[in-house]
Amino acid sequence: MVDAAIELSKEQIEGLHVEYVETALLPMLNTDLEVDGKFPAEVEEFRQKILEADCCLFASPDYNYSVTPILKNALDWGSRPPNVWAGKTAAAVSAVGGGRRAQYHLRQIGVFLDLHFINKPEFYMNAHRPPGKFNADGDLVDPETKDNLKEMLLSLQAFTLRIQEKC
Ligand SMILES: Cc1cc2nc3c(=O)[nH]c(=O)nc-3n(C[C@H](O)[C@H](O)[C@H](O)COP(=O)(O)O)c2cc1C
Repeated sequence: MVDAAIELSKEQIEGLHVEYVETALLPMLNTDLEVDGKFPAEVEEFRQKILEADCCLFASPDYNYSVTPILKNALDWGSRPPNVWAGKTAAAVSAVGGGRRAQYHLRQIGVFLDLHFINKPEFYMNAHRPPGKFNADGDLVDPETKDNLKEMLLSLQAFTLRIQEKC
């Protein structure tokens, strides 16, 4: 789904550049790994990428009514002082596993992190049903789903620009 957002933004949305940020390789959060105010190298790199971004697009299925542990771990590393999420605008996508509960939980976590989520449109889909929304290479090909994703990205872009203008 993030790949689809990258492609859509490249082809159809002027001024929006979406970049995939790897979170699976971050160590499990352990504050003992913070030494003299420094984080492990992978964490420093991740935090820098977030600091440089104007807004954040999160992707997660429901995992036991919440976000995946990999995403929670990334959120937690980013939250260590100074909190790199603070003041960023955000949106969320889910391709499988419902996603609604993960997204509402993510919004709740975002309250403490000072993330500002767009309210609408929300974006969920079931990548498996009906079949055919993705091709054999894993590319999103369903036109209606692409339109929905584009609307969500445009809303995130507009909200981000509005917030930045007021700062
Ligand atoms: C630990 C774990 C917890 C899950 N919890 C939920 C859940 O609460 N609700 C749900 O609809 N799916 C749940 N799922 C299913 C996933 O959200 C999702 O469908 C699956 O991991 C995606 O893989 P797939 O693309 O192979 O289907 C869970 C999966 C795992 C591994």
